[in-house]
Amino acid sequence: TENKKIVIAIDGHSSCGKSTVAKQLAQQLGYIYLDSGAMYRAVTLFALRNKLASNGTVDEQALISRLAEIKIEFRVNATTKQNETYLNGENVEEEIRQLPVANHVSPVATIREVRAEMVKQQQLMGQEKGIVMDGRDIGTVVFPNAELKIFMTASPEVRAQRRYDELTAKGQQVSFEEILNNVEERDRIDSSREVSPLKQADDALILDNSHLTREEQLQWAITKAQERIAK
Ligand code: DC
Repeated sequence: TENKKIVIAIDGHSSCGKSTVAKQLAQQLGYIYLDSGAMYRAVTLFALRNKLASNGTVDEQALISRLAEIKIEFRVNATTKQNETYLNGENVEEEIRQLPVANHVSPVATIREVRAEMVKQQQLMGQEKGIVMDGRDIGTVVFPNAELKIFMTASPEVRAQRRYDELTAKGQQVSFEEILNNVEERDRIDSSREVSPLKQADDALILDNSHLTREEQLQWAITKAQERIAK
């Protein structure tokens, strides 16, 4: 029927614009948007604040033993209508986007117990369908039966430039080199980790957006989604 609700999984490299496409697609379809990376970032912020992570390393056992203390939620901002990330009742949307978290999130996301807990919560949030979720393992692990899977990518330089523009627009003092290193290092860890490495699902559609505008990407995604909804 016209109103059939589906699950849309958007996976891919960091900073290639997944969240922009995912958010706009969800809005167009009247679906929920869920940023799974924000959940790993919130766990990382908890680890940093509790001195379970520093200098790029994480005390895995200590973090695992405190997983039950971490409550992550998404609440809609009344003004922007966007989902914001809450850690134990506190809005941490801004803080989880900053470099200390970015620099420690990959090792946190390699921890099996952390992933198991996040995946469980993500599956619960998607059980009613009508959801667009972005991340690294959504089409492979979280929703292997998603009706539409998109794998997004772009060159590291294009991604670093976008990230650099985003951060400097917010007034943050960062160098392009630092950002490019961060992007490449995260790619390396995300693709080579043992637990749920970033890889394309066999049935995912590839969207390389190195040379596409946001509007072109969105139109492409809407067309694919409408095809799947009509099926
Ligand atoms: O998408 P992002 O940059 O906010 O993701 C932050 C980190 O979390 C990144 O290192 C990859 C990891 N991640 C993951 O392992 N699995 C997901 N489903 C989403 C993010």
